[in-house]
This record gives sequence, C-alpha cells and structure tokens, in this order.
Amino acid sequence: MTQAHAGMVPFITAEEINEMVTQLAREIERDYTGKDLVMVCPLKGSVPFFSDLTRQLQLPQTHDFVYLTSPKGEAVRILQDLTVDITNRHILIVEEIIDAGRTLSFLKTRILASSPASLKVVTLLDKPARRELPIKPDYVGRTIDDRFVIGYGMDLDQVGRNYRDIYNYAQ
Ligand code: IMP
Ligand code: MG
Repeated sequence: MTQAHAGMVPFITAEEINEMVTQLAREIERDYTGKDLVMVCPLKGSVPFFSDLTRQLQLPQTHDFVYLTSPKGEAVRILQDLTVDITNRHILIVEEIIDAGRTLSFLKTRILASSPASLKVVTLLDKPARRELPIKPDYVGRTIDDRFVIGYGMDLDQVGRNYRDIYNYAQ
C-alpha cells in the first residue's frame, strides 16, 4: 500500500480490527435481541466500521445516516439530519473514534429530543484522555492513549479513510 504520509506507523491490523468488530457484535446481539434496533452512522469516518459491524450483527435492524460538522473552533452543526422516525425505537450510534466528545454529545442531544426508547453508543476506538465533555460509550473496541490515528475510515485532511489497517500518525 502506498503510504501517503511519511509519519505513519502501523498500529492496529485489519485482522485485529476484524476481531474487535466480531466481539462487539456478539455483545450487542446479547443486549438487543427482540428489540426494534436503529443503527445510526455519523458520516464520514464511521462508514467502514458501520459497514462491517452491521453485517456481523445477526439482528433485524434499520440504518440511518447523519452528517455533522465542526470546523476547528466552531460549534457542531447538522449538515444532513436523520431521515427515519426514531421515536420509541432503540437507537445505537456507531462511532469509529471518540476524542473530545463534542460531536457525540451534540448527536445524543439531537436524538434524545426525538424521544427514543433507548440510546446507546458503540465506538471502535476511545480516547478518554482527550475528553472535554462527559461522554461514556456503552461498547468500546479498544481504549487508546492520546494519539492521532489514520485508516479504517479515519482521515488526515480527508486522506487515508480507505486504508484497511489503522496507523498512528506523528508529525
Ligand atoms: P470529538 O467531537 O472530538 O469526539 O471528535 C470525534 C470525531 O473527530 C471522530 O468521529 C473523528 O471523525 C474525528 N477524530 C477524532 N480523533 C481522530 C483521530 O485520531 N484520527 C482521525 N479522526 C479523528
Ligand atoms: Mg466519526
């Protein structure tokens, strides 16, 4: 694979990601069997994780997508809102990584305003050391320290989302 950034160091392999996704799917199945589940994908970074996790889940499920943006230093706002009715349904937000928690905090507030039956969060990676708002995911693939990562949906200036593995990036 062409390495687009000189500072990229292998961090989590595609095989390890696959194991994490499988493990998360089994946990989620235990909790949502028999429930009306809506899986929410915040664009764009969560797309590979959402695609793999939803196909691993042996459960009936509805999918929806939301596009939030937060230009540096500015407040989070909605570019593309949810399209399905989530009232009285069990909502699971699928994030690829939680950093400060600003995006997720905003999205949770937006979803709770529509009175879901329940609201939980699954994240592939969690960076609790970076947290600015009190957000705690319900399912975590792996907790990592304060480092910037690229690949499997995560980008640096829009580059790297398609990489199968996850890399650590140090400038
Ligand atoms: P937060 O609002 O600070 O929690 O930011 C969450 C979003 O920032 C994630 O959904 C990612 O899109 C992006 N992000 C956070 N950390 C990283 C990283 O290490 N690499 C790439 N994108 C990241
Ligand atoms: Mg994201």
